[in-house]
Amino acid sequence: MNAEEARLEMSRLAAELEKHNRLYYTDATPEVSDKDYDQLFRDLELLEDVHPDLASPNSPTKRVGGEPIDGFEQRAHVIPMLSIDDVFSEEEMGDFFARLQKNLGRDTIDVTIEPKIDGVAVSIVYRNGELEYAVTRGDGSRGDDITENVRTIGRVPLRLPEGAPPVFEVRGEIFMPNEGFAEMNRERDEQGLQAFVNPRNAAAGALKLLDSREVAKRPLDFLAHGIGQIEGIELASVKEFHALLKEMGLPANEPIWEKDSLEGVVDAVRELDVLRHSLAYGTDGAVVKVNLFEDQQQLGFTSRAPKWASAFKYPPEQKETVLREITVQVGRTGTLTPVAELDPVFVSGTTVRRATLHNQDEIDRKDIRIGDTVLIEKAGEIIPAVVRVLPEKRPLNAEPYKLYDEVGGKCPVCDSGIERAEGFVAWKCVNFVCPAKAANQIKLFVSRKALDIDGVGTIVAEKLVERGVVETVLDLFALEEESLGILNLGTIESPRMLGPKNAAKIVSTAKRAETAPLSRWIYALGIPQVGESAGRELARLHRDFKETFSSPILKDLRTFKTGQRKEDHEELAKYQIASEVGPTVAGSILDYAASEAGQAFLKRLEELEINPQSDNYMPDMAALMEQAADGSGGGEFPLAGKTFVVTGTLSQPRNDIKARIQDLGGKVAGSVSKNTDYLLAGEGGGSKLTKAESLGVAVIDEAGLEDLIG
Ligand code: IVH
Repeated sequence: MNAEEARLEMSRLAAELEKHNRLYYTDATPEVSDKDYDQLFRDLELLEDVHPDLASPNSPTKRVGGEPIDGFEQRAHVIPMLSIDDVFSEEEMGDFFARLQKNLGRDTIDVTIEPKIDGVAVSIVYRNGELEYAVTRGDGSRGDDITENVRTIGRVPLRLPEGAPPVFEVRGEIFMPNEGFAEMNRERDEQGLQAFVNPRNAAAGALKLLDSREVAKRPLDFLAHGIGQIEGIELASVKEFHALLKEMGLPANEPIWEKDSLEGVVDAVRELDVLRHSLAYGTDGAVVKVNLFEDQQQLGFTSRAPKWASAFKYPPEQKETVLREITVQVGRTGTLTPVAELDPVFVSGTTVRRATLHNQDEIDRKDIRIGDTVLIEKAGEIIPAVVRVLPEKRPLNAEPYKLYDEVGGKCPVCDSGIERAEGFVAWKCVNFVCPAKAANQIKLFVSRKALDIDGVGTIVAEKLVERGVVETVLDLFALEEESLGILNLGTIESPRMLGPKNAAKIVSTAKRAETAPLSRWIYALGIPQVGESAGRELARLHRDFKETFSSPILKDLRTFKTGQRKEDHEELAKYQIASEVGPTVAGSILDYAASEAGQAFLKRLEELEINPQSDNYMPDMAALMEQAADGSGGGEFPLAGKTFVVTGTLSQPRNDIKARIQDLGGKVAGSVSKNTDYLLAGEGGGSKLTKAESLGVAVIDEAGLEDLIG
C-alpha cells in the first residue's frame, strides 16, 4: 500500500468507526458487534503505526487519551459564555414571562423548556467538520483548553458527517451519569482513594486531569444545549438548532417542550420535576428559552446573562421520616460522628436510610432527638441531610441527645476515653491504635499517593483489623501469603476467602513499598495537617524518619507565632521552608513523634529493617544556591533554587528531563510566570514561548541546560 492508498484507507476506517460510534452512543442502534468494531479499530491503529505522519488528531484511536500535559493553555471565547438568571418560584417565572411579553410587544411567545443539567459547561468548536478545540467556560471570556480530555468522551463526535457548517461551535454540559459515578466511587473506595462528593465534582475533577488517558477511564458524558459561533448556515430557532444537532450526530439535551404561554411553561416545569428523577444524570432546574432567534436578538443581554432565558431552580425534594436511632462512627483521625438511622424513605431518586448528623453542636442546634419525625433532603441532590425536626410530631418521652453520655464517655469501638479539644466541636477517641482508626489509617496508608499497596480496599482493611491480623499499618509488612490467602472476608456462617492471588498481590506490592521515598511514607501516616506536599517538603529537610522525628528545624519552627516570618529567623532562613510546612505542621509531626504510637512506629520500623530515605534531601537551599552561582561545592545540585518550565518536543521524554532537573536541585513548574527562571523549549514551544518572551523569562534549549549543569 503506498502512502496515498494508506491515507484513503485510514480516512475510510476513521469515518466508519465514527459512524458506528454515533450509532452506538447517540442513536443506541449499533449495527456491528464489539468484535467487528475492535477489528476496524485495530486495522486503523496498525496503519497509524506505519504512517504516524498521516494520523489525524481526531482519529477514533485517540479516544483512549495521549501523553500527559503540564497544564492547560488558556483560550478566549469568540462569543462570551454567559450565565442564566435563576428564578425560584412560579410567581417569579410569571414575572419573567411578563417581561418577555412587554419587551416583544405581544402576548403569545414561543418558548422551549428543557432540563438544566448539573454538569460542567464546555464549548466545542468544529471546523470543516473536524473537532478543532474544546474550552471550559472559565470566567466567561476565556477558559482552559481541554481538547485532549474532551476527545476521550465517547458521545462527543470527533468529526461531523457531510454537510456540517464550516464553523460550528456547540455548547453543552459534560457530566457524569449517576450510575457511573456510584460505580467509580465504589472502585475508588476499594483502592483506598477518596470518594467524590457528587457527580458534578467528579466530572469537574476528571476534566482537570492533565493525563487524558486517565480521563478516558472516567465515565463522562456530554449533552448539547446551545450554539456559539456558526458560519455557513442560517438557523432561525432553538427548534432548528436541535434538528441540526440531530443531523450532525451530536447528542441534544432532552426532553424538550414547546409552549407559547405562561400556563404552558408552568405545566412543562411541573412535568419535568417528576420526570427528571428518572433521568440518568443530575438536574437542578428547567431552562426556559425564547425559541425564535429573531426574538432573542431583540431581547438582548445584560452583562451576565441573556434576557431571553430563565432557569427555574427546583427546591431540593424533602420527605418526612422517623429517626429511629443515632449510631456513632469512628473515623481515621478518631472523630466520633453521630449518624441518624432512619425509616427508609425515597428522596430524589434513591432510598435513604442514614444521614450524618455531623457533631453534637449540629444536633443541639436542630434539637434532634431519637424518635423525632424529621425532614430529609439531599444536599446537591446526592448526600442525605436532616433539614429539621417536626416538633409537633415529637413523642412525649423524647430526651435531648448527648453523644458523650450515650457512649458512656468511651470510644464505641475500643472503649478508650474520648476528649474534645478546646474550640473544637468533635469528640475524639484518644487511643492512637484504636481499631476503627486502624482500618481507616490502613486505607490511607495503602492509597496510590501514599505507599501504593494493591488489593487493600475497605473490606479487606476492616477484616484485617477485625480478625486481629493487622493492628497498626506496619503489620502490613509482616503478612504472609499463605495465611493471608485464607483471610475470611465474609461471616462465620458464610465465609468468603481473600484468595491466593489477592494475597500475593498485597504481599508483593507491600515489599515494593518498603523502599518508597520518605516523602510518601510521611504522607502515608495520616498525621493531622500533613498532606502530600508537606510530606515532600519535610523529606527535603530530613534524611529519614529518625531525623524528622527529632528535628531541630521543626522544633524551631513550632515556636513561631502567627505573623512571624520564617525568613526573619536567622537559623531557619537558610532552609527556605515552603508554606506547606508551618508551625502547625511542625507541631503535629513532633506531637506524633513524642506519642506512644510514634515511638512504637519507629521501633517497629527498625525491627522490620525498613528505613525509608529521602529522595529529595536538600535542606540548605541558601548555601546550595551560592554554590550554584559561584560554581563551587562539587556541583552536586547545580540547579538549586531555579525554577524551570519545560515545553515542546525534546530529545528525551519530558518526564525524564523533569526528573533530571529535579535530581540536580531544580524545581519544575507547569506554567510560565514571573517566578520562572528558565523556559526549556524544544521544537514547537507554542504559547509558553510567547508568554516567556513577554515576561522576559530566559529561554534555553537542551544545550543551554547542559551549560547550566556544567
Ligand atoms: S442554555 C446564555 N441550557 O447552566 C446561557 N444552559 O447557569 C445559555 N446549563 O453556563 C445556556 N443545562 O452551562 C442552557 N439546558 C441548558 C443547560 C444550561 C445546564 C448550564 C450552562 C450555563 C449554566 C448557567
